[in-house]
Amino acid sequence: MVPVKKDFVENMFSVKGKVALVTGATGALGSVLSKAYGYAGAKVFMTGRNEKKLQALEEEFKAEGIDCAYAVADPADEEQVDKMVKACVAQYGEVNILAVTHGYNKPQNILEQSVADWQYIMDADCKSVYVVCKYVAQQMVDQGKGGKIVVCTSQRSKRGMAGYTGYCTSKGGADLMVSSMACDLTAKYGINVNSICPTVFRSDLTEWMFDPESAVYQNFLKREPIGRLAEPDDFVGYTLFLSSDASNFITGANCDCSGGYLTC
Ligand SMILES: NC(=O)c1ccc[n+]([C@@H]2O[C@H](COP(=O)([O-])OP(=O)(O)OC[C@H]3O[C@@H](n4cnc5c(N)ncnc54)[C@H](OP(=O)(O)O)[C@@H]3O)[C@@H](O)[C@H]2O)c1
Repeated sequence: MVPVKKDFVENMFSVKGKVALVTGATGALGSVLSKAYGYAGAKVFMTGRNEKKLQALEEEFKAEGIDCAYAVADPADEEQVDKMVKACVAQYGEVNILAVTHGYNKPQNILEQSVADWQYIMDADCKSVYVVCKYVAQQMVDQGKGGKIVVCTSQRSKRGMAGYTGYCTSKGGADLMVSSMACDLTAKYGINVNSICPTVFRSDLTEWMFDPESAVYQNFLKREPIGRLAEPDDFVGYTLFLSSDASNFITGANCDCSGGYLTC
């Protein structure tokens, strides 16, 4: 008998009925992933610091029949994160998937940047990942059913860049944190931890790079075999894959989803 189960193959990409907690849900990627989890049948618990935006997303998603809720929390604040996880559990009884999509950058040359500004980026992009993953992982361990953690970092975790001593360092740290968390959490507790590492995708902050006539866009294309920059929904498939049983043997990975940026 060939050793593959029909039932597993038929359902391996499903996140139906799972509870997905999304940080940075108010952002370009976070809002798209939140809605995508909802379309895929998951219960979606959104978090961010901006209550107005969270409210608007909840309203929009509920109008489409998506089961969702939100809590306001700063991902770098331990007390707020603790409350956020408790609020998710109060709402849905558990957390099965964590998608970390919040992020911040303020590019500055090291000679002009204050230590406080650098530390702010490190807290927003690195410490916050640790705090959120720690509290959600503890909840998953207490539930005893494993789980999936997907952290959005960046290709900037693998390459330096002018003005990016905060961002590259924090994203590089987050990628190594992901690999280390996998060592702590996968074999013993069945929690897979992976990151996705995009290059530029469309958001309020990057919209200016999408003018096809601009030198910035053309320069990027020289390093993008895929022939374009990304849209947030380009990452839905990869994230759902890493959130589902189809990726059960993948952990600790920093997954390239850059349109081939590192290949040339
Ligand atoms: N866009 C790109 O080209 C690109 C490329 C590679 C990697 N990334 C990474 O991909 C992730 C998603 O990017 P995106 O473009 O969707 O981001 P975004 O829209 O700029 O922001 C995502 C969310 O992060 C939260 N946030 C902002 N500053 C924060 C801070 N200081 N502390 C904690 N949370 C903060 C905000 O939510 P609240 O205000 O509600 O808290 C915001 O809605 C980020 O980690 C980003 O670094 C983006």
